[in-house]
Amino acid sequence: MEKREISFSPPDITDLEIAEVIRTLKSGWITTGPRTKLFEKKIAAYCGTGRAAALNSATACLEASLRLLGIGRDDEVIVPTYTYTASVSPVCHVGAKPVMVDVAPGAYEMDYDAMEHAITEKTKAIIPVDLGGVICDYEKIFEIIERKKALFSPSNKLQEAIGRIVVIADSAHAFGAKKLIGGSWKRCGAIADFTSFSFHAVKNLTTAEGGALTWRKIEGIEDEWIYRQLMLLSLHGQSKDALAKNRTGAWEYDILFPGYKWNMTDVMGAIGLKQLERYPDILKKRCRIIETYDKAFRPLGIQVRKHFDKGQASSGHLYLMRIPGIGETERNRIISLMAEEGVASNVHYKPLPMLTAYKELGFDMKDYPNAYRQYENEITLPLHTCLKNEDIEYIITKVVEVIRRVGELDHAV
Ligand SMILES: Cc1ncc(COP(=O)(O)O)c(C=O)c1O
Repeated sequence: MEKREISFSPPDITDLEIAEVIRTLKSGWITTGPRTKLFEKKIAAYCGTGRAAALNSATACLEASLRLLGIGRDDEVIVPTYTYTASVSPVCHVGAKPVMVDVAPGAYEMDYDAMEHAITEKTKAIIPVDLGGVICDYEKIFEIIERKKALFSPSNKLQEAIGRIVVIADSAHAFGAKKLIGGSWKRCGAIADFTSFSFHAVKNLTTAEGGALTWRKIEGIEDEWIYRQLMLLSLHGQSKDALAKNRTGAWEYDILFPGYKWNMTDVMGAIGLKQLERYPDILKKRCRIIETYDKAFRPLGIQVRKHFDKGQASSGHLYLMRIPGIGETERNRIISLMAEEGVASNVHYKPLPMLTAYKELGFDMKDYPNAYRQYENEITLPLHTCLKNEDIEYIITKVVEVIRRVGELDHAV
């Protein structure tokens, strides 16, 4: 088999996106403006929510939701250990305490019993992570929160209107995923109270960098009010955005509080609009690749993340597989050998308590044995829409060859 070079997740950019970016660059308006606003409308329509706010990253979206909710010092926020730092760093940014929960044995989601035990009278939010694009069990999460409602004491009007712990989904991977809830299909974005999406360069739908926040209707609170707060937070707390200020004679503005700089530009919005048009095809292609991988790897005893099930359709963002019976050393050797064969692969994730920042906050990996077991034999394969059939065939052949060479799957392969 002739050697191929296969990258992990290159952006899938066509002439459609390029032409729209050129039109934007020539339009006379390149920062936040009509294209970003249209992108927001289309995201809300796609997810089935009243509004959406497009910002410059999912990290900003998470922090914006925490700040909007007034979560900060003396508050606790429950987060999983098995995720990327960006699920948790915004909790640290606002000064709240992250409370980490292990995954359930053999799972990529929080252990829901452990999550329930972690709830205290200080818990203000839970951030579940839809890892790889698979939607978490939000019905169970809401059920637990309802059971613990008596512990919750709101510290402001928005928290009072919600009246319980707030569920902020880290759906950086899960744009386009859907789930059957209460007899009807719901898109990711319309399930948790707030949902944060990433449009980073490696994501299914990209704006180079970028993200969006959606939310479910909150009784007694106008969507428009939430949107306005998010816009203020994301642009210096400035009473007028750049487009409004730019109108002839409309220079005057006020700064209502020292806000942040998280806005999405129209150049990013232009890419997003065209990616969104192509998105149904992108999702179909990802689904086909997953099916091909599953067919090849499942019979060999390799454990793969289930993306599609009755009542559940993932966005197919990451192909996570676990090689039974191996540890970190063999896993890393497999990754190096695959790299020599030209196949880039990755690990999702190194649990947070293994990282310096979180060790220094006092987290100890010994307290999260299930996350460690998920991590030690996990390998993520290339899964993207630039893959050709021959690439997929090549990856499958090389994965099997390399695992055999490392000799750990002899019993299975
Ligand atoms: C699980 C998870 N959450 C959040 C993020 C942050 O996304 P962004 O880079 O758009 O801030 C990432 C990015 O890869 C992620 O993997």
